[in-house]
Amino acid sequence: MVALVTMLLFSCSLDEKQEECKSSPKIFNPNGDSELALAMRKIFDQTEEIKQSLKNGELVVPADYIKNLKSFHTSTPTDPEVKVKEFFDFVDAIDLVANELSESTNINDQKEQYKRLVNTCIQCHKTFCPGPIRRINKLKLSK
Ligand code: HEC
Repeated sequence: MVALVTMLLFSCSLDEKQEECKSSPKIFNPNGDSELALAMRKIFDQTEEIKQSLKNGELVVPADYIKNLKSFHTSTPTDPEVKVKEFFDFVDAIDLVANELSESTNINDQKEQYKRLVNTCIQCHKTFCPGPIRRINKLKLSK
């Protein structure tokens, strides 16, 4: 038990500072990061991998990417108020784009779909969580 608590404390102190959704944050969850925040961080890293693969000229979509996107439906958020119909609509939308991306075979189509994917991240964030948008913008492919 003591070991577990020590481990948790230790891993928390190693974490990057969490990016708040709002500029003047209410403290929703002072004890750690929500399931949704962790899923988002993973998606961010995996989307960066996709970007890199497109820059290298050959699309690679991580095996569990779509599954991770779908987990947004069930993950507990920091702010329970985000789980409204529009949130789920955005999750469905990004699912669809990610599926199209993983199924297209032409590099130009893939770049187009990728653009739509990142725009869908940004659309949902404009509504529910503007804080990380600057960081998400860095996922865009440069011309
Ligand atoms: C359905 C709406 C929605 C979509 C789509 C979405 N996000 Fe998020 N994102 C959120 C919400 C809400 C949070 C706040 C999570 C929390 O604190 O519980 C968040 C948090 C984040 C965070 C901050 C995590 C942290 O460290 O606390 C990053 C980074 C992020 N999202 C990146 C992305 C990327 C990249 C995409 C697209 C591949 C994406 N998001 C798609 C709603 C969305």
